[in-house]
Amino acid sequence: MSEYRDGPLQIAVSTNGQGPKLANIVRKHISENLPNGISEAISKVGNLRQKIRKIDSDYKSSSKRMKWMTKFCEDWSIENLQKLDDNVIEALLPYYEKQIVPSFETLSLNKECQTKKGQLILVGAGPGDPSLLTHKATKALSNADLVVSDRLIPLEIFSIVKCEIRLASAKSGTQKSTKSDESQEEIQNWCLEGLEKGKSVVRLKIGDPFLFGRGGEEISFFKKKGYNVQVIPGISSALSAPMAANVPVTHRGLSDQVLIITGQGTQGRLPQVPQYHEMRTTVVLMAVGKANELSKELLKNNYPNDLPAVFVENGNRPNERIIRSTVATLGEVVEKQHVIAPSTLIIGRAVNALL
Ligand SMILES: C[S@@+](CC[C@H](N)C(=O)[O-])C[C@H]1O[C@@H](n2cnc3c(N)ncnc32)[C@H](O)[C@@H]1O
Repeated sequence: MSEYRDGPLQIAVSTNGQGPKLANIVRKHISENLPNGISEAISKVGNLRQKIRKIDSDYKSSSKRMKWMTKFCEDWSIENLQKLDDNVIEALLPYYEKQIVPSFETLSLNKECQTKKGQLILVGAGPGDPSLLTHKATKALSNADLVVSDRLIPLEIFSIVKCEIRLASAKSGTQKSTKSDESQEEIQNWCLEGLEKGKSVVRLKIGDPFLFGRGGEEISFFKKKGYNVQVIPGISSALSAPMAANVPVTHRGLSDQVLIITGQGTQGRLPQVPQYHEMRTTVVLMAVGKANELSKELLKNNYPNDLPAVFVENGNRPNERIIRSTVATLGEVVEKQHVIAPSTLIIGRAVNALL
């Protein structure tokens, strides 16, 4: 008998006494052609077998165990069998119960999902009145493990939140200033921390997250980190503030289009304003600090001097103020009336439609 041993693997070749030397040759040929790592793979499979026996020790299950183990050994490569450590075995056991043999790739993908099991929801808070949150937003806020937000959101909104709330020190989502970027980073890090702990994290943003709120940037950031983000829309101040001032942004005969712009475009600059069109209502967010400059820019683009305009300060909130102006007097009105943020400016013939 010519024998070969490597750990748990034993190969014995017999020629029934006819050619012991040939038995040696055959044994050598077999051992030289064994797959690399076979002995380690056998030990690991042995470990898996023991664990399966532990969770299903009933003698009546022996054919179930054998069937699954056979399929498993056939489906997995020797290379992957060598990777059968305790973690992989633990992930495999539920598949035995279902009598399914997953591929190694499926298993490692699932493991990755399990470690990244936190859930992120980007929620629009609306203009700041808790009763103007959508039902879906209210539900997400009350079910969250962590709510991450900034100081653009009035505190009343947080009254329905039962979990930890983290508020960035500066206002994020406004213009691209260093402070805003810092708080954006702070916010993203808090969200990641929560997600890595498997929490249900709500990232709450004023109005609608995608309108001048850097919501899209946040989604791209978390996508790169391996998280999918659910988005719950919110009522944007661009449309709710005009309603607070009783301005129908479109109105037959007065306005058949709406332009929404920011006063704080790229690097804090005003965006390019199109030529005046009498059938258009222009809504400007973040305009307070830019009222003078905006007024000049609008006049340059043929907006009439006396075209009506209105600032809605803290729209849909208890401290709401409606401040009337014209295109020519935007800067003057902001100064004299001490208009503060958050305010939305509405310009166009529709502003006076319901007066
Ligand atoms: C960074 S932008 C965010 C806009 C937000 N994503 C939205 O859809 O309303 C912030 C600007 O929204 C406007 N805003 C937010 N809440 C407001 C409110 N309650 N009343 C008037 N304007 C508001 C202001 O122009 C403010 O400067």
